[in-house]
Amino acid sequence: MIFYFSATGNSRHIAMLIADKTGDRYADITECQKKDLYNFIADKNENIGFVFPVYNFGLPVTLCRFINKMNIKINGNYIFTVATYGGFSGGASKIIRIMLAKKKINVNAQYSVRMPDTWTPIYDLSDKGKNAKTNIKADKTADKIIKKIIKKRNGNFDCRCIPFSDYFYKDYDNLRRTSSLSVENTCIGCGLCAEKCPENAIEIRNGNPVWVKDKCAMCLGCLHRCPQFAIQRGENTKKHGQYIHP
Ligand SMILES: Cc1cc2nc3c(=O)[nH]c(=O)nc-3n(C[C@H](O)[C@H](O)[C@H](O)COP(=O)(O)O)c2cc1C
Ligand code: SF4
Ligand code: SF4
Repeated sequence: MIFYFSATGNSRHIAMLIADKTGDRYADITECQKKDLYNFIADKNENIGFVFPVYNFGLPVTLCRFINKMNIKINGNYIFTVATYGGFSGGASKIIRIMLAKKKINVNAQYSVRMPDTWTPIYDLSDKGKNAKTNIKADKTADKIIKKIIKKRNGNFDCRCIPFSDYFYKDYDNLRRTSSLSVENTCIGCGLCAEKCPENAIEIRNGNPVWVKDKCAMCLGCLHRCPQFAIQRGENTKKHGQYIHP
């Protein structure tokens, strides 16, 4: 079973590629949360995978909460993680390995895939051609990973880890403040942002999104998915464009 968390589709895409070739089942962590689904039984020969985006060289809060709550009965299964990232995976692979070990889920192999960087307060995703090229490379990396998964290789194959990433990961908590998100008057009140938010942090009131929690996952799914591109975070996101994995 492949568990994935994905705000903008990169990690979902990689999880689907793997599931397609291995025949493994897959589960969307956001959907599991909504259905209060935390108990799983692994079939004898299936792989157990976790595919997720790197946030601040660490893990999205939604993924951490899911791992802490989940229970899975394993039976000698091959266990792997895949971090999708824009530049550096930092300490994400190490953090998830330690979290899973605490739950007696001992990871066999760790992989990572470079993809378009959805942190558009800094990175520019307005060039669709450039994003497409990055995604072609990502698919080639995924192919290599899938071959290793099929051979049940052991080891740390995440070559974009960097030591001392804890300092940056600590800052994730500050970055999660929803006061940094804003909505423009082009909003049509469609409700998509609220419906898709993995943290239930948005409510539509009087036809506009209102952030009802002080902190969220800061996944930027609301910003990237809005049909009006009405949600922004700071001054740069408007010019850096919206992105969803095609
Ligand atoms: C809040 C946030 C923090 C991020 N931090 C990092 C980071 O530390 N390193 C990195 O390489 N990419 C970082 N990214 C980029 C994502 O990890 C990357 O684009 C990922 O593939 C997005 O996956 P998704 O489409 O499945 O949500 C960050 C993105 C967001 C939204
Ligand atoms: S997705 Fe965009 S248009 Fe729809 S309610 Fe949210 S902000 Fe408004
Ligand atoms: S409010 Fe927006 S950025 Fe925050 S978790 Fe929800 S969808 Fe992601």
